[in-house]
Amino acid sequence: MMGKTQEIMCGIVGYVGKRQAKGILVEGLKRLEYRGYDSAGLAILQNGALKLEKQTGRVANLEGELDKRAFNGNIGISHTRWATHGKVSQSNAHPHVSSDGKIALVHNGVIENFTSIKKFLLSKGYSFESETDTEVLCNLVAYHYAKQPEVDGQSRFAESVRRTLFHVEGTYGIAVLSTDCPDEMVCARKGSPLIIGVGVGENIVASDATAFASRTQNVVYLNDGEVAHVTSDDFNILTISNESVDPIVSQLDWSGEEADLGDFAYFMEKEIFEQPSALENAMRGRFSEDDSTTKFGGLNVSPQEFRQMDRLLFCACGTAWHACLVAEYLIEKYARIPVEVEYASEFRYRNAPLDKNTVVFVISQSGETLDTLAALREAQRKGYRALAINNVVGSTIARESDGGIYQHAGPEIGVASTKAFTSQLLISAMLALYLGRLNDMSYGDGRRFVEALKAVPELVALNLKVNSQVEAIAKAYAQYDDFLFLGRQEMFPIALEGALKLKEISYIHAEGYPAAEMKHGPIALISELCPSVFIIAKGEVFQKTIANMQEIKARHGKIICIAPEGAEFPDGLIDDLILYPDCHEAVAPLLACIPLQLLSYYIARERGCDVDKPRNLAKSVTVE
Ligand code: AGP
Ligand code: GLU
Repeated sequence: MMGKTQEIMCGIVGYVGKRQAKGILVEGLKRLEYRGYDSAGLAILQNGALKLEKQTGRVANLEGELDKRAFNGNIGISHTRWATHGKVSQSNAHPHVSSDGKIALVHNGVIENFTSIKKFLLSKGYSFESETDTEVLCNLVAYHYAKQPEVDGQSRFAESVRRTLFHVEGTYGIAVLSTDCPDEMVCARKGSPLIIGVGVGENIVASDATAFASRTQNVVYLNDGEVAHVTSDDFNILTISNESVDPIVSQLDWSGEEADLGDFAYFMEKEIFEQPSALENAMRGRFSEDDSTTKFGGLNVSPQEFRQMDRLLFCACGTAWHACLVAEYLIEKYARIPVEVEYASEFRYRNAPLDKNTVVFVISQSGETLDTLAALREAQRKGYRALAINNVVGSTIARESDGGIYQHAGPEIGVASTKAFTSQLLISAMLALYLGRLNDMSYGDGRRFVEALKAVPELVALNLKVNSQVEAIAKAYAQYDDFLFLGRQEMFPIALEGALKLKEISYIHAEGYPAAEMKHGPIALISELCPSVFIIAKGEVFQKTIANMQEIKARHGKIICIAPEGAEFPDGLIDDLILYPDCHEAVAPLLACIPLQLLSYYIARERGCDVDKPRNLAKSVTVE
């Protein structure tokens, strides 16, 4: 099933309870807007009649329309779309309604066999108004509902959704309403996340718990192939093949306020400034009694088993892949265990021959990235133990992995990953220490490493003081259209990350390169129109990197340099110098990253870009 092209984004919120649904749905949609923002729509059942509103663009547009008329009702569904089938238009926006007017439905995912279902439904007299793959779902539910006999003790509505899904290929998270059943909502999932927030006298379903975390902390994560029948006081779950499921109610480990913007202009800014506490949380309870190593409760791999391992393989996408590259440097350096890093999307189809004694790690903030999930499943299919470093508790990757390490960074809403990345770097360093101490690292080196880790939150807080300096530098450089980011060794992945941050939120062309590799090609780009950002660490390649800077200066390239305090440079070489606090070299990549986050943030703001919702992107991007 995971083999076909699929895209899973968008946000779903559904409410059933005693309160007015409209406000709760709109608030939920706003919190989920980072998942997709092509259009937004909402359907409410008012005395058994459907009231519908949809608008292209942001949730604010929808809200503006909703304010113009009364929209009362205690049950409703809503959606922000990330278009896959059919252009961005009002008619393609969700919710979709069956042609008999009885069923309203929102969908996240892709229905692969929608053409054949559509043909079938057209032959049965159903009609279609949109170009989406989704619309077949509501007509097929209507078709099964019409055929479905009443059976005592069974919801005819839920049963018709279950029967519908039996015929559907593809991925979906759905929430469905029926005009005949004004107290019932049905939802289901396969491949796209869907969570029930269990309240008192009310239940909320959503693609992501941020939609309802301010209302309830009790959650039930639907599994693939499950259908839930939800009313204000109850819910029950069946599998598509009609087996009943005992739901597990879990507790969120963060509260609603954490997903609020507060006084910040953007979530990205808020999340950059949250890093000291996010990093503190990544370490809490994870040091040994004698403080010479780290410990992880959920790895499910014993020290003896780790000692048998010859190799680690790290897989991820985007920013999380950069964290894998840093993990490679750190684990090889401190634990002397060979590490391979693969793009999750490449690993999945490469059919790479792996050593027998390999442990696979995937890294994912959201835990929903399809490429990463597919890599995890592929590793497990081959019989490898696959562990996850992941931020979202209860995410699909967290649940399917054989063990792992939660980041506990709190919700990350900005599309550009910041605090999740630095927390992945910190956990990679903690893992390098743990594995190092299983191998040859001495007690004394372990103690020094632990002290260095513990100092990180304070150093990051100190580091954030470069904020106004970086803002001024960003203003001076915001009009350039090309940038190079250059670093060596463990600063090379940070150069890649700096370039990715800049390009994704400000649409500036930026390339990350190993600093010395630059002379083998990219040097042709250097001119007064293409500034270079150097990310520097102390240590053996420091002088060599200065030589690389000279090569740029000789070609009239401007240089911004991010370097540790105390570093000395020849006069006139650097145009703008940003210092990060002197620290243990295992955490230098993390500290050097902070000014880069600020640089891309302020450049994007200066260029008037929508920092939290960059064009064409969405959080939890899951495109094969
Ligand atoms: C980060 O700034 C990017 N938006 C993106 O590269 C992201 O890191 C990638 O899609 C992986 O996401 P994940 O960590 O949720 O799996
Ligand atoms: N495939 C559906 C559409 O294009 C749903 C997309 C989504 O997940 O937002 O409308």
